[in-house]
Amino acid sequence: MSITPIGQPCPKITTASLHEKKLRHEPITCLTAYDYPSARLVDEAGIDVILVGDSLAQVMLGYESTLPVTVDEMLHHTRAVRRAVKRALLVADMPYGSYHVDEKEALRNAARMVKEGGAEAVKIEGGEKRAELIRRVIEAEIPVAGHIGLTPQSVNVMGGYKVQGKSLSAIEQLMRDAVALDKAGVACLYLEGIPREVAAMITAEVETPTIGIGAGPECDGQVLVFHDLLGLTFGPPAKFVRRYADVAAVITGAVQAYREDVVAGRYPSDGESYHLPRETQAALETIVDRKRAMRR
Ligand code: KIV
Repeated sequence: MSITPIGQPCPKITTASLHEKKLRHEPITCLTAYDYPSARLVDEAGIDVILVGDSLAQVMLGYESTLPVTVDEMLHHTRAVRRAVKRALLVADMPYGSYHVDEKEALRNAARMVKEGGAEAVKIEGGEKRAELIRRVIEAEIPVAGHIGLTPQSVNVMGGYKVQGKSLSAIEQLMRDAVALDKAGVACLYLEGIPREVAAMITAEVETPTIGIGAGPECDGQVLVFHDLLGLTFGPPAKFVRRYADVAAVITGAVQAYREDVVAGRYPSDGESYHLPRETQAALETIVDRKRAMRR
């Protein structure tokens, strides 16, 4: 076991590092990743937290919402990400239905995320009403990331993907949710789709680091969906998305160029082809010539 000397920067991000960052007012960076290549790139770029979000249901699997994705599908993606990630803290989402039936099943599913997926924490949506369950999962030695505000697994109850916490009573409930999860001991708290002012109040109130998405700049950290940041999604982006690249255009251009080269006979070139050794080539030509001569 290696112990990082006091005062040395810790190369591996842990749940403790997130708390230290909050205390030092150092912004926490988080991105989703769902497969090996994207997770490697994100990890090597120095992002602190990699979230295998259940948003993969929409982004990777083409579902309308996050609701259909299963524990086994989440595990499949989490394992691929695990193989890539060396430094970042790896958080995996508990998908809809995996913690809603009973506590035993929730604990079993959370443990699978750690044991089979290699996650270092699981994320569970919901506030006050999930605090007791979250406490039990933490007691089972599994760090938990909370997630409140616009929780996509509640889309049918919310009646769509709507910004939450706009009325005074909704703000009070969000504060109660945040405080309950903080007391339960969450490793961090995702704040999604809430007014900046409310996210700032929550961030000041709770000890746990907050990580915002559509929750303004006062959160202790920020998260975006990898594909949103890259411009690799279909349809108009949400207001909070900043597109740092147009990767869809890059991919389309490359695929079209490849297609045109194949159709025009420009691909593959001789330089992109394998060749026989000279002697084998000569021997082969002799055999072919002999066969031709015999046929005449
Ligand atoms: O699934 C996801 O990607 C998420 C983040 C947006 C927080 O839950």
